[in-house]
Parts: sequence; structure tokens; C-alpha cells
Amino acid sequence: MLEFLPTAPPDSILGLSEAYTNDPRANKINLTVGVFKDEQGRTPILNTVKKAEEILLKTETTKSYMPIEGHPGYLKAVLDLVFGTSIDVARVAAAQTPGGTGALRVGADTVAKHFPGTRIWLSNPTWANHGSIFQAAGLETPVYPYLTADKTSLDFAAMMGEIKAQGRRGDLVCLHACCHNPTGIDPTLEQWQEISALLAEKQMIPFVDFAYQGFGDGLEADRLPLHALLEKNSEAIVCNSFSKNFGLYCERVGTVMLVGKEASTTEAALSQLRQSVRCNYSNPPRHGAATVATILNDATLRAEWQAEVDAMRNRISKMRDMFIAGMKGTNATRDFGFLSRQKGMFSYSGLNSMQADWLKKERGIYIVGTGRINVAGMATSTMATLCNAIAECIQAT
Ligand code: LMR
Repeated sequence: MLEFLPTAPPDSILGLSEAYTNDPRANKINLTVGVFKDEQGRTPILNTVKKAEEILLKTETTKSYMPIEGHPGYLKAVLDLVFGTSIDVARVAAAQTPGGTGALRVGADTVAKHFPGTRIWLSNPTWANHGSIFQAAGLETPVYPYLTADKTSLDFAAMMGEIKAQGRRGDLVCLHACCHNPTGIDPTLEQWQEISALLAEKQMIPFVDFAYQGFGDGLEADRLPLHALLEKNSEAIVCNSFSKNFGLYCERVGTVMLVGKEASTTEAALSQLRQSVRCNYSNPPRHGAATVATILNDATLRAEWQAEVDAMRNRISKMRDMFIAGMKGTNATRDFGFLSRQKGMFSYSGLNSMQADWLKKERGIYIVGTGRINVAGMATSTMATLCNAIAECIQAT
């Protein structure tokens, strides 16, 4: 059997990160995969995570299975963090999943099983893995336009026009709650209100990917778009991830949340999530979720964690500003000022795949082929090298 299997192409994000690791050059820079890095290029374990792990080490008494839907203390805390008091959380069926990817897949599987042929609209561009996840679950994935032709701003009219003209009742619409991946370009709160009204009018269902809470404007500010969607739409699917804001990348901690119109639908929805989980991975891993629960359910640790999230966000924002200023100081003819409107880990730089290739080959600087740059990977010490290399690249290509 295996001799008939062709080799699959490398992953467009993680494959590049692997190539970076294998690159022997000393001055190489990795701006590919979305992980936070400090000034020294390390992806640190948060202090609050270390503290929670110490508590767990002392207090954990068993490694027996968890409920299929996951850690109860975790689930309660997540609903509070994501929804606050915007809705009655008794309307939400929630299951802890292996990361945000697991959440997207369990949510998509649950829909596809009961509503075969469902379509989910994806922004063009979107996270490179969205299409594969939803298609693997059996959903159709039409796309709506997202950017202006020069790729520097949101083309809101085009986005809304396409959804209005082509969207059908019961279609899902995948929306990034904040820090759009890969562009870093988000709708304004007023535009979110309009999106919310349009989906309600068309009876389409928001499918919200919420992987970067705290990396845009703050933990509470970043959930406002979701709340705007829920003001007018009685149903939604929300997937969150704690990879970034808790730095728990490899622990795989996420949640799928099915929001119903009334609490009376929650039990059935939860039973279906349980079925999807059971036939995928049976029940979720405990450690990461227990860590998050320990932090979120303790007022002191929670406050300390919020400060850690604020510090990560501020560092990224400082790096983005330094990069814009750094590019101004080079002889590059292109103005990178538009990056100041972008938020979160990623910036769409406007560089094309040929230029990404040039940077990799000539300078050992790795960015995603679409021109996406992980701003969190930048450092003061390498900023001049990076800016000069990009200026040279623009001239050479
Ligand atoms: C990214 O977009 O780089 C992250 O979400 C990590 C991943 O799995 O692709």
C-alpha cells in the first residue's frame, strides 16, 4: 500500500519553520509560525503557567480519564473569559479540544454530520489551515474577498457585497474575532455591527475563530466583535485557543462552543459534541486545561496573567512600530506605514512569494510565502539587519 503513496507538499507554515531549523546560517531569522518570542528569541513559559504547574504537581491525585467534554473548571472559566456577561452561558454547549485546530475540526464535524453539504465562507486570504480543516470535515469552502487590490486595507464593501449576493440561509461564515490571520487587518467595531446585521438578515451563522484574545487591544476589548455578532445572531459557533495568550502551544488547549438560541438546546448540542470528540480522540488531555483553569480561577494568578498578556501585546506593537520606522530609514521606495493599522502577531507585508524566497535564500530570513510576517519574531537587535535585507530584496526583485 505505502509504495503507492505520493509525498505530500510541506506545510506552508510549519514546513518553513522546519526548514529554518535545518538552516546552518548563524544570522538566520524566523518570522514564520505564529509563536511569541522575547527579545532574545525565546518562546518563554509564562510565570503564571509555571506557578500553576507547581500547584498541579502538588495537588493532582490521578491521571484517570476526564469527561469527554473536558475539565469542568476549565470550561466554566473559558465561558466567562470569552462571553463575560454578554449572553446567558447556559445557552452554550462547550467542549475542551486539543488546541484551536481541534476546536475547528470538532465544530465542523458536528455540523457536517447533521447538515451535510453545509458551506462555510472563508475570507480570502485566511489562515492556511482553515480550508483543509473544513474540507476534511466535509464542508464546502467558498471564499469572500477581504483585502483591497494593494493588500493594505480591508475591502469592506467587497466582503459585504459577496456575502449579501451569494450567501444562503444556513451557510456558516468564518470570521476571525480579532488579529486576522494572516493579514492583521480587522473590521472596525462599527463594521462588526454591520456584519452582524447582515448575517442575521440572511440567516447565516457566524463561525468565529478566536485564537488571539488579548493580542489586539486587550482581553476584554478583543471580545467585543464576538459580542456584536451575538447581539443580532441567536446562534453561533465559537472556537478559541490558548496557544498564544497562555503560551501553551504544545499543550494543545482550545474550546469549541456552540451557542444556541435558548438554554433548552444546550444538552442536545453537547451530546453531539461529545460524539464528535469520542470518535476523534476519545477525550481531551488534562494538563494544559488544568493549568489554564488554575490560573483563571484564582484572582491573583489571573491578574498576573493579564499583565503577562498585556506585556506580550505591547512588545509586538513596539516591534511593529520599530519595523515601520526601520523601513523608513532604508532606501526602500515602498512605504510600510500601512502596517500601523494592523494588529496582533501578524503583518501582511505586501512582499510576494518570489521576495519571500529571495529573503530565505539570500539572507536566511524566513517569512511565509504570502508575505505574512510574524511580528512577534522580530527583535531590536536584528531589526536593522531585517530592514536592510527587505530593502535590498525589493530592489533586487
Ligand atoms: C500560525 O498561523 O502560524 C499559527 O496559527 C500556527 C499554525 O499552526 O499554523
